[in-house]
Amino acid sequence: MSAPVFIALPGDEALAEKFAESLGGEAQALEYRRFPDGESYLRLDAPLDHRRVVIVARLGRPDPRIPALLFAADLARDLGAASVGLVAPYLPYMRQDIRFHPGEALTSVSFARWISYHFDWLVTVDPHLHRYDSLDQIYSIPSTVVPAAPTLAEWISANIRRPVVIGPDAESAQWVEAVAARAHLPWRVMRKQRFGDHDVHIVAPDLSGLEQHTPVLVDDIVSSGGTLAGAAKALVEAGLAAPKCVVVHGLFGRDSRKTLAAAGIERVVCTDSVDVPEGVVEVVPLLAPTVLRMIEDNMSHGSTAENE
Ligand code: R5P
Repeated sequence: MSAPVFIALPGDEALAEKFAESLGGEAQALEYRRFPDGESYLRLDAPLDHRRVVIVARLGRPDPRIPALLFAADLARDLGAASVGLVAPYLPYMRQDIRFHPGEALTSVSFARWISYHFDWLVTVDPHLHRYDSLDQIYSIPSTVVPAAPTLAEWISANIRRPVVIGPDAESAQWVEAVAARAHLPWRVMRKQRFGDHDVHIVAPDLSGLEQHTPVLVDDIVSSGGTLAGAAKALVEAGLAAPKCVVVHGLFGRDSRKTLAAAGIERVVCTDSVDVPEGVVEVVPLLAPTVLRMIEDNMSHGSTAENE
């Protein structure tokens, strides 16, 4: 069977090449530009007939990239691909998982429907599963979630002296517990109340006995920076040192770095699931074995072994 073909959305070429290298595949360039009116132009000058195609897309700022993503999947299929999978190390639109107010768009469901229509399978890292138990609740294609906890635990153990892992809110408990268990570290979870996109109030739990530890805030997402900033302030008020921060997905919204700096947070370490300077923990080694299994296990909707 021929080698899988990895195609990157613009800007993610290095990631696609790393997947190709580590899995014995080929990276093929997608030509992408915009017409003067803003519409997208795409071209794939590569033989894709009966090939297993993987589109690699970092979707930290999804909206300008969604048309290219869907067009690229359709194009690969038009050019004869046997299957088209998506590796999106950060899966966007997972947080609008309920109508908080009447009439709001349930964008998690709409986005899942689009992806499930255009792709045969999906691999991602720690999606924001809060009110959903699994991606299968909204995605109708096979998907695999790869946890970042082992890699984050390794980074913390190698770089931070005497850490205590702390989650800023109840939702973060799943990541905090996994990281702490992996690295055999103590952990605590704080309580958060959110009053708006940028307005959170965080209360520290009992931290007695941990004064000599380095607090490490672990969360899945940093967006406005309000959660980490609020948690850092509460930790310092409780008598701990200014925390280190380790986050899976560094979205870093506008002014977030200023908000973090004002709260005494010098550095946030993230995976490279989003294309930001803070993304230093690599996702390719974490994802490669799962991506290979998904390529091998999943054929196109309606395709058969013969057209491989
Ligand atoms: C929320 O439930 C998430 O786990 C994160 O805590 C949140 O998305 C972080 O957002 P922000 O940086 O805007 O506070």
